[in-house]
Amino acid sequence: MRAEAAPLLELAARLARGAGRIQRERYEGEFGIQSKSAVIDLVTDVDRACEQLIVDAIQTQRPGDAILAEEGGGTDIPDAEWRWVIDPLDGTTNYAHGYPRFCVSIGVEQRGIAAVGVVYDPLLDELFSAVRGHGARLNDRPLSVSSEARLDHAMLATGFAYDVHRSTDDNLDHFAAFAKTAQAIRRDGSAALNLCYVAAGRFDGFWELKLHPWDVAAGLLIVEEAGGRTSDFSGDGSCTSGLETVASNAQLHAAMLEVLQR
Ligand code: IPD
Ligand code: CA
Ligand code: CA
Repeated sequence: MRAEAAPLLELAARLARGAGRIQRERYEGEFGIQSKSAVIDLVTDVDRACEQLIVDAIQTQRPGDAILAEEGGGTDIPDAEWRWVIDPLDGTTNYAHGYPRFCVSIGVEQRGIAAVGVVYDPLLDELFSAVRGHGARLNDRPLSVSSEARLDHAMLATGFAYDVHRSTDDNLDHFAAFAKTAQAIRRDGSAALNLCYVAAGRFDGFWELKLHPWDVAAGLLIVEEAGGRTSDFSGDGSCTSGLETVASNAQLHAAMLEVLQR
């Protein structure tokens, strides 16, 4: 591993476990819940507590690094070499309902290129991680994507953006198309975990519209380092913005793009 990546991975993993501990301890307890961009777009006191823990530690230990964090606690430093991209709690709707599928996602970019990614599921104690050029891991075990080549044998995952009530660009057309072509689809409310499950071969592919950089910063690197492929819906562009995201075991990528381009 490049010498500079090791301390970043160690810090990202420690902070993901620390935020995950907060999520585990407060799970199914009492916490405040508010709406953000729409009545269905929630934020809880736990999202904010997790973000504060992560951001405070980075600002103290690496004051020159830029931070993009979903709940707005980060600091932009335009010429910084390193940028941390943080979703302190991915799966907030699940968390608010006591549905056990949520995680912490922390990506680190070097001059705009993903270098390190960590996603932590605190209930299963599963730490997914990757360092560019050094593979992906689940806890201590190397990860690789599935070898499924047939869409009608594939289990896919997706999700819906928080503007689904009012937007016509709502993913329901793609959902219907994959319902008729894939073996099965899951919508379980955490894009970051969905990406890690593609990396682990649990899902064969994932797509979603209108995600954000913090949803995908860690997961896309984990998929790629596990041997998968990621792109926008054209297949030519990157999906680091989250606007159009397709991630697959690579073998299914062309078939997924064909459905998304219909
Ligand atoms: C959401 C989850 C969900 C996806 C949404 C995301 P949040 O993130 O990843 O699975 O469908 O598009 O916004 O709000 O729980 O951090
Ligand atoms: Ca998210
Ligand atoms: Ca979140």
